[in-house]
Amino acid sequence: MSATSEQYRKIDIESLSSTGDQKFNLYVKSNDDFVKFAGTEPAHQEKVRNLLKAGELTEDLYIDVLEQEEYFKQITGSLASVASDEALTPHLRAEKIYNVSLSVMKEFFENSSSRKILNSANDIMGAMQTCLEVTNQGFSLLAKTMVKNYPAYIHSINVGLYCLSYAGKMKMAQEETQILAIGGLFHDLGLTAISDETLYKKGKLDMDEIQWMRSHTEEGIAIIKDLNLYNEEVVKMAAQHHESFDGKGYPYALANDKISYFSRVCKVADVYESLTSPVVYRKAMKPLDALTIMTRDMKGMFDPKVLRNFITLLT
Ligand SMILES: [Fe+2]
Repeated sequence: MSATSEQYRKIDIESLSSTGDQKFNLYVKSNDDFVKFAGTEPAHQEKVRNLLKAGELTEDLYIDVLEQEEYFKQITGSLASVASDEALTPHLRAEKIYNVSLSVMKEFFENSSSRKILNSANDIMGAMQTCLEVTNQGFSLLAKTMVKNYPAYIHSINVGLYCLSYAGKMKMAQEETQILAIGGLFHDLGLTAISDETLYKKGKLDMDEIQWMRSHTEEGIAIIKDLNLYNEEVVKMAAQHHESFDGKGYPYALANDKISYFSRVCKVADVYESLTSPVVYRKAMKPLDALTIMTRDMKGMFDPKVLRNFITLLT
């Protein structure tokens, strides 16, 4: 990638249609360079609005990475209206929200973007929650929407959505729901510190690689603490989601209620999501097969009550 193209990110033009006046500059690619297409001045915004309305905005548009935080703030801020837009089918609403979460997490995981773009996670999970509530649809809507393949950021979003559904099913209070959903979304942020070569390695990991992989819990704590915005429970979920109810997990070999409740929920969601997604060394399992393995072979790993609740969520 050239230095220039690292400075600009292609954006989804559709994301502009619901944001109103954009507070960031838009660029187009011309040969190997990027030139300004529209600024934040009223006349430029008018031009963009008119082109969007006429369906004449066909060129690829880019933003400067320095303005990404503003971009994500604006597009995620507009998701609340998408969630309640009766002109759209429930599936289309969920899909639009899901796609925005994909772009935020992909940007963070793959391009080492500013941590600040993660601030939009509240808007995304809030919009998804509204979408589930106003359309009166539960987990089945999410199941239809989720992409099931295995870059780490997709896994993270799916786990966040399982946690959100779990909170809904358990009728948790709004604040707790938000914490659980964000914690699920952020539980594996520490994986960004691991190289793709190790993260997606086909063969067995050697001892050093295993140690490195395991360090993602500590790395995650550091990233979330650095964001300085999230509740201690969110930090615990990153720290404890590989602990095991029987005390055989890592990094601290905590057991039973020494593991936070939210981390026990995250553990179930994390393992279920992993088993039902294809990974480099095996195909995706069917939901029932995954649940059979979890209740029979992996039993000691989970809080039995949480596992039972989770199963009722899916069935
Ligand atoms: Fe993890």
